[in-house]
Amino acid sequence: MNAAPLVAIRGLQKRFGAGPLVLDGINLEVGQGEFVSFIGPSGCGKSTLLRLIAGLTSASDGLITVDGTPPEKAREKMFFVFQDATLMPWRRVAENVELPLLLRGDAPGHRRERVARMLEVVGLSGAAEKFPWQLSGGMRMRVSIARALTVAPEILLLDEPFGALDEMTRDRLNEDLLAIRSRNSFTGFFVTHSVAEAVFLSSRIVVLGVNPGRVTAVIDVPFPYPRQPELRETPAFLRLLATTAQALRAVRS
Ligand SMILES: Nc1ncnc2c1ncn2[C@@H]1O[C@H](COP(=O)(O)OP(=O)(O)O)[C@@H](O)[C@H]1O
Ligand SMILES: [Mg+2]
Repeated sequence: MNAAPLVAIRGLQKRFGAGPLVLDGINLEVGQGEFVSFIGPSGCGKSTLLRLIAGLTSASDGLITVDGTPPEKAREKMFFVFQDATLMPWRRVAENVELPLLLRGDAPGHRRERVARMLEVVGLSGAAEKFPWQLSGGMRMRVSIARALTVAPEILLLDEPFGALDEMTRDRLNEDLLAIRSRNSFTGFFVTHSVAEAVFLSSRIVVLGVNPGRVTAVIDVPFPYPRQPELRETPAFLRLLATTAQALRAVRS
């Protein structure tokens, strides 16, 4: 890992108001180019942890730094992708993808070029003029990812982005996400309920326990990138799947 981690979390605690501790004693260092998945039972604080890293909510105690600064000062380096694609229904696909660039004040020529390139990256060049309601769930998610990538974020945070999709579509989008990452390198933070998805995508899996949310296991995923779909059928992959499932079961029991 680099001398200075891109994201450092030390002794992190989070509670909302006078409520119970949601996250407790979280320590994690993530280097540039890693892809880290958070997996754990509902309510263990995965989304909260992602929002803390993104600077969308603040820690009750402890420290988070992104590139050496507090997260809220590093927001322009990050982009958050939510489970529902959150597209604007009255804007065409290209106009949705363009939005972050528009808000940032980029020039029209640059915006057009960048949108066209990102739609190509996610395989949606032919759908630029369509409206969101004309797309499948998987295509809408692709638009959401293209929109995130237009601003070339250093860090992409994805909160169960494929959770609502069927397994085949999700597998396909997992492969696409890795292909996209090989062309547009970013450090990834990914929340999922799917063990298979976590193993396929990640360089590291962080298993969280509940009440309060805490790290119960950290699993290194040794498979080099690029990863092919066939990786899923290899004995080494299946062994890691079992290891991760066991770590998750230990949390639940
Ligand atoms: N804004 C909030 N105000 C109060 N409690 C919250 C808020 N956001 C999350 N929580 C609580 O924090 C806990 C963790 O939530 P969350 O991070 O959404 O878990 P997960 O994403 O792992 O399902 C839950 O008990 C939830 O009710
Ligand atoms: Mg959540």
